[in-house]
Amino acid sequence: MKNHLRDVFRFGVISGVILYIFFIIFIKDSGCKASTSLNLWTFFPLKLAQTSPNTSSISLPPQKTNLSHLYFGLLGSEEAWHYRKAYIESWWRPSAIKGYLYLDEQPKGHDILPWSKNSPPYRVSENLTNFLQETGATAPVMIRMVHGIMEAFRQAETEKGLDLRWLVMGDDDSIFFVDNIVELLASVDHNKYYYFGGQSEYILSNFWFSFNQGFGGAGFMLSYPLAKALANDMENCLRRYAHVKSADTITMACIADIGVNVSPHKGFHQIDLRGDISGLLSAHPKSPLISLHHFDAIDPIFPSKDRFESTRHLMKATSFGQSRMLQQTICYERRNNWSVSISWGYSVHIYEQIMSRRVLQTPIETFTTWVGNPNPPRYMFNTRRSTNDSCETPHVFYFDSIKKLKMEHGDYVIETLYSRASERGLPACGNHSAHYISKFKLISPTTHRIQNGRCECCDIVEGADEDTLMVKYRQCKTNEIIA
Ligand SMILES: *[C@@H]1O[C@H](CO)[C@@H](O)[C@H](O)[C@H]1NC(C)=O
Ligand SMILES: *[C@@H]1O[C@H](CO)[C@@H](O)[C@H](O)[C@H]1NC(C)=O
Ligand SMILES: *[C@@H]1O[C@H](CO)[C@@H](O)[C@H](O)[C@H]1NC(C)=O
Ligand SMILES: *[C@@H]1O[C@H](CO)[C@@H](O)[C@H](O)[C@H]1NC(C)=O
Ligand SMILES: *[C@@H]1O[C@H](CO)[C@@H](O)[C@H](O)[C@H]1NC(C)=O
Ligand SMILES: *[C@@H]1O[C@H](CO)[C@@H](O)[C@H](O)[C@H]1NC(C)=O
Repeated sequence: MKNHLRDVFRFGVISGVILYIFFIIFIKDSGCKASTSLNLWTFFPLKLAQTSPNTSSISLPPQKTNLSHLYFGLLGSEEAWHYRKAYIESWWRPSAIKGYLYLDEQPKGHDILPWSKNSPPYRVSENLTNFLQETGATAPVMIRMVHGIMEAFRQAETEKGLDLRWLVMGDDDSIFFVDNIVELLASVDHNKYYYFGGQSEYILSNFWFSFNQGFGGAGFMLSYPLAKALANDMENCLRRYAHVKSADTITMACIADIGVNVSPHKGFHQIDLRGDISGLLSAHPKSPLISLHHFDAIDPIFPSKDRFESTRHLMKATSFGQSRMLQQTICYERRNNWSVSISWGYSVHIYEQIMSRRVLQTPIETFTTWVGNPNPPRYMFNTRRSTNDSCETPHVFYFDSIKKLKMEHGDYVIETLYSRASERGLPACGNHSAHYISKFKLISPTTHRIQNGRCECCDIVEGADEDTLMVKYRQCKTNEIIA
């Protein structure tokens, strides 16, 4: 992120200086007096937009990247697999996804043997005893995990007919949104060097480990030439960093030595958080959801379900596509002055007053940090504190069901239903209580969400049942201001 921003700024400054010189010359030559009232701030961005690279001419491989070009390496332990298996099986597609789960030892026990067809096939990680002895590595488990990247890459190279473009690494408790991953990876050229990953939500995790690493539980993706370079250098690099205690930091260091840095993406979620993460999932950044991690450490994300049911339930919302998953859409019910904030496939918040998007996009701090109870700043994003103020506290609804519906005019739409979690237990904010609303119905297109850098818009649909609020999605109009 930092490097990327720095490049952007450097580009901006250089272009700015050049443009400024042109600007001076232009004014001198043309004697255009009117232009002199322009200040540099309004002038520069305007010109910069014109000098920015022609994005439609960035070359992509002729054959678009799809799932068949990805290879997954998941790192787990025999001990945890007995229960974590349910997390992975919630998203793994046995016939479509290629890759292996790497365990520390042979699996045992009737609950996991014979090996489930719905699980990824497994391998036992290579025996590194001699290597660990020789290097005196500080954290043997971490060395095994980093070495796993090479094992997965070498394995992929032996697969017949595999056109390997991306190596995707994750943990045994990483939930992946595979279609969104494919879309992200298909947007860039796999022949270049890419290391996609996500920072931790918790500032101190980044501070302790690195702001410049992809946190492994949230998963990271390496383009082919990078994965190959890393695999080739693996033993040497593990020797160089044998004293480092974190697998993710060792990985980052090895990749840095190749000359590559992480491209952070806001859809990766390490979830270095505890407790109820609904506040975060209800105000997800405007980036496709890539992963969720640490399900053992947090409360079930749906209040009436356990952890495993919760993951399966969340994946159910993706049955007709993943592009809208957790994407936040906000609209206003003007008759009652309600604000409606929707996190597609997860939750709906109704407030009994009009609140700005700036506020609604700020997650309510329903959660706590991974460890300790530090003073702010705690997170890599702003938060709102939970209150008992009726006007600031939403009525909360959670995803219930999804179906495809045929409309009167023959078009299909997706209907998602959300139901009230529990009574809010507060008096009304004003004269227009939303207390009687118990269901929320959302109509959205069957088509993929258009990624144009802007969220979608929505309208309240009249004529729903008395206890139901109904909303329909649409593209925002060109000059529409949603306030
Ligand atoms: C950008 O690239 C596209 C495709 O190569 C081309 O058609 C278009 O004219 C280019 N636009 C500019 C401003 O150069
Ligand atoms: C993926 O792309 C390859 C071309 O590289 C193509 O042969 C294959 O049919 C595609 N698979 C799917 C599922 O689209
Ligand atoms: C790993 O290798 C060491 C040294 O060669 C050997 O003593 C040990 O039994 C091996 N462990 C396994 C699980 O095979
Ligand atoms: C909604 O809020 C506006 C601005 O505060 C106010 O003028 C209007 O009377 C309110 N409408 C209702 C139905 O409360
Ligand atoms: C809100 O009220 C409940 C019940 O009275 C109390 O337990 C809780 O601490 C209050 N929360 C805040 C943020 O004030
Ligand atoms: C609610 O209604 C009462 C009675 O009609 C009125 O006096 C009061 O001003 C209203 N309050 C708000 C916040 O609109």
